[in-house]
Amino acid sequence: MAGRFPQQWLDELRERADIVQVVSRYVQLTPKGGRYWGLCPFHGEKTASFSVNPQRQMYYCFGCHAGGSSINFVMEMEHLEFRDAVKLLAEQVHMELPEMVGGHEDAVSKSEKDRLYEANRQCARYFHGQLWKPENAQVLSYLYNRGLDDGTIRMFGLGSTPPVSDGATRALRDQGFTDDELVRAGISVRRDGRVYDMFRQRAIFPIIDAQGRVLGFGGRALGDAKPKYLNTGDTPVFNKRLGVFAANLLRKQRGLKRVILVEGYMDVVSLVQAGVPGVCATLGTALTIEQARLLKRYAPEIWVSYDGDAAGQHAILRALEIFEQEGVPARVLDFPGGMDPDEFIRAYGPQGMDQLEPVDATAYRMKQEMAQHDLSTQEGRTAYAIACAKHLTKVKEPVQLENYVKQLMLSTGFTREVLLAQIGRTEMIAQDKRSVYRHAARPLEEKNEGVDTETAAAEKQLLLMLAEGGVEPGTVTAEDFITPERRELAQKLLAGMTPGAILEEMEDEDKRARAAHVLQKESGAVGEAQLRMTGDCLRILHKKRIEERIAALTQEAAGLKGEDKRRTLLKIQELTKERQTAGRKE
Ligand code: UTP
Ligand code: MN
Repeated sequence: MAGRFPQQWLDELRERADIVQVVSRYVQLTPKGGRYWGLCPFHGEKTASFSVNPQRQMYYCFGCHAGGSSINFVMEMEHLEFRDAVKLLAEQVHMELPEMVGGHEDAVSKSEKDRLYEANRQCARYFHGQLWKPENAQVLSYLYNRGLDDGTIRMFGLGSTPPVSDGATRALRDQGFTDDELVRAGISVRRDGRVYDMFRQRAIFPIIDAQGRVLGFGGRALGDAKPKYLNTGDTPVFNKRLGVFAANLLRKQRGLKRVILVEGYMDVVSLVQAGVPGVCATLGTALTIEQARLLKRYAPEIWVSYDGDAAGQHAILRALEIFEQEGVPARVLDFPGGMDPDEFIRAYGPQGMDQLEPVDATAYRMKQEMAQHDLSTQEGRTAYAIACAKHLTKVKEPVQLENYVKQLMLSTGFTREVLLAQIGRTEMIAQDKRSVYRHAARPLEEKNEGVDTETAAAEKQLLLMLAEGGVEPGTVTAEDFITPERRELAQKLLAGMTPGAILEEMEDEDKRARAAHVLQKESGAVGEAQLRMTGDCLRILHKKRIEERIAALTQEAAGLKGEDKRRTLLKIQELTKERQTAGRKE
């Protein structure tokens, strides 16, 4: 793993890649009132509500509430990940890329890992060699019976275990590997003081990474032996949650329009043999976030093509969630009749595959919901509409949403208005012509985070004065803030971060929109007035905290008796007095 950019270097980049300059490459900006204004590139509009604040190094759109730093801006405009947006910006301002810090280097040294890679590679060669020996003919015929030809077998380096229980171990020992190394690589296991091969009587699928290194193996039992597939466990060079099967082939295929993600080794091998490009599989686990991130690099879109059985369907829904979390566009290639991709391609060939249309995540979810509800009853239709509406809240593009709503109108009989209300998109009811943009203009969900408006306002005002540098050092601390979200903002402002840099760290879009909304405002006070205002805000928060304390103690007192109760009531009395003075200006 590559590690992070050093903080100092990032700070310098943010300083050099001035947000006004960065945004100006894409949006025509006009200065007005200490900010720059332009048409928002993220949603359609005719009057400028997109603002850039150079002092705070942030942008904010009053229409769609997009907000962030120069890096966020480039990420959104260019569809890049953080790391790549940073690289692009660094190039533009002629900064050299730094040494990365804090990667996942563990205690195992590079040379030690290299030994394990080498052992695996030699082991793969050994297994592949075994496949052609007469004594292992049944493994070769197993692969032939599953429809594989010699070319495919060679391309994947498929292999066979030897007829004896320590064949691989001995062959590798002869090449100078120690038993310790073989056990650590997962090639051999130690039992009763003796060392044997991990894989017995199996067809072998080597797992090779994008750099061509052999990480481990999957071994398919020849008959009904259990487990059907035995995989190398986690080793210093193999973590099944991080990689995918056939990463080496993926890497070589440039310009893929989509990656097809399947469940099994056999599915990959079979599809590749049929001429389907860009296929890979997870390694015997459910899809992980790391794998989703990895796949996003190979193509603009992923097609999830799991088995058609119930377990597969469930896994698809989970994979869709993960891709969604990672912002990876994903669709589903659904196979008919509960077939898996291997069975399908053998039955219908690549032409059959070409005829399958991938369905997008929402359509797939709606289809799954349909199977779960009885649409012949009003109750069923209502429950179905509610379930689908939940999925549809994720569809941001009005034009796409419109299509689904139409479908839902047909299947449930509810009107467009009712469905849009259920989805929470009433702004689409007074329809006008909108185009396809990244974000729709939308109302911002103001959140007081469980405190009253006065408290929230005081916190927001304090944040602005911190952002403007109008607070004497030491007078305000993060602990003065009551709500967690705003306390976090205060902490970061006090640590000297610019609002832009703070927004940049927020992954949750709604949270970022709320923060951007707060941080883009002006406190409206200067000099003396700032000091006075700071005092006022602090007093409000202080008073609020005392009130919370009183409320808590009052509740506690109700359950107490005798001396305990008397003491608690006394405390409440004291706090009540303190509250009166706290509310007053000195
Ligand atoms: P499947 O059982 O769906 O695989 O398991 P498959 O490719 O269709 O198997 P064949 O066609 O009968 O050979 C999918 C994947 O789950 C993992 C393997 O990675 C397999 O490719 N798996 C399955 C295991 O790790 N262990 C098992 O016992 C079974
Ligand atoms: Mn199968």
